[in-house]
Amino acid sequence: MSPKRVLSGVQPTGVLHLGNWLGAIRNWVDLQESHQNFVCVVDLHAITVPHDPLILAKDTLSTAALYLACGIDPQRSTVFVQSQIPAHSELCWLLNCLTPLNWMERMIQFKEKAVKQGDNVSVGLLDYPLLMAADILLYDADLVPVGEDQRQHLELARDIAQQRVNARFGSEENPVLKVPEGLISEQGAKVMSLLDGRRKMSKSDPNENSRIGLLDKPDVITKKIKRAKTDSEIGLEFDNPDRPEANNLLNLYSLLSGVDKTAAAKECAEMGWGKFKPLLSDAAISALTPIQKNYSELISDPLELKSILNNGKEKAEEVAQATLKRVREAMGFLITEC
Ligand code: TYM
Repeated sequence: MSPKRVLSGVQPTGVLHLGNWLGAIRNWVDLQESHQNFVCVVDLHAITVPHDPLILAKDTLSTAALYLACGIDPQRSTVFVQSQIPAHSELCWLLNCLTPLNWMERMIQFKEKAVKQGDNVSVGLLDYPLLMAADILLYDADLVPVGEDQRQHLELARDIAQQRVNARFGSEENPVLKVPEGLISEQGAKVMSLLDGRRKMSKSDPNENSRIGLLDKPDVITKKIKRAKTDSEIGLEFDNPDRPEANNLLNLYSLLSGVDKTAAAKECAEMGWGKFKPLLSDAAISALTPIQKNYSELISDPLELKSILNNGKEKAEEVAQATLKRVREAMGFLITEC
């Protein structure tokens, strides 16, 4: 039996943060041991909100470098750039024509982001989850490792594959598309803002102090953790609904140090914030320093990075084209090649 397939991606908007790593990339790295991994830099998603053309390509390359710096091995994973495979846009169009508009209007992220954009909301922002569905479905992915915030988009991809494509154009014995499963890890899937334990850590938060970037230097990490919101209680604990910051920072400590949840809870049960914060800073610095070292080596050789992405493009294109052909045939398009 061939290994199960994994597909995931991150948008190249700004520097990735701890949420992107702990919620997604770290799981991709673990999965590449036993699965056939496809990981893409989803640059087409990055233009669904106003973007700067002068930095899009640079951010795309640097995001790819971060994947590798975090441990993605191009010998074991196919690393590629979404916009370089036109099949993503084409399948997205086909799915557009099969998906009811009200399914899209229900998407929570769309509603949240649309409020911020006012009159400037693009059709692309509404369509964003369908492009994500196309990303996933093109690769016949079995598993899609993402953070909690992508759960609804993943459900949409499953519903479209099942109800709008397979049910209409395939049969039970011969489905057109594979219906993927999400992989949302128990611990890292919801990393919250340093400034508000009830809001997720996000690239779009205007306050830099709300997140730790994967490339933040030790002094910046220490400063941000010093400023992180606390409460007046002594002792850290998990799962107290009245103490979201304690839950988030203790969770981060456990994830970054590798100390499991039970041991972390015990270690910090009576610790004051003044003692805990330096502990958390040290764990974050120790976890990120090797990634930063790898990154600075990788980014200093853009030719090598581009060659890795070109190889990835070739492998990804083959799989994507085969799926697209299947969908085109199932939907009844004229095929002229013999
Ligand atoms: P994006 O770029 O917003 O985030 C990339 C990944 O990071 C996860 N993530 C988090 N996990 C835990 N805590 C957080 N605070 C946090 N913030 C972000 C996200 O859940 C995601 O897994 N639409 C997607 C990108 C995408 C994609 C795909 C993902 C496009 N096509 C196909 C999987 C498969 C997005 O905007 O993620």
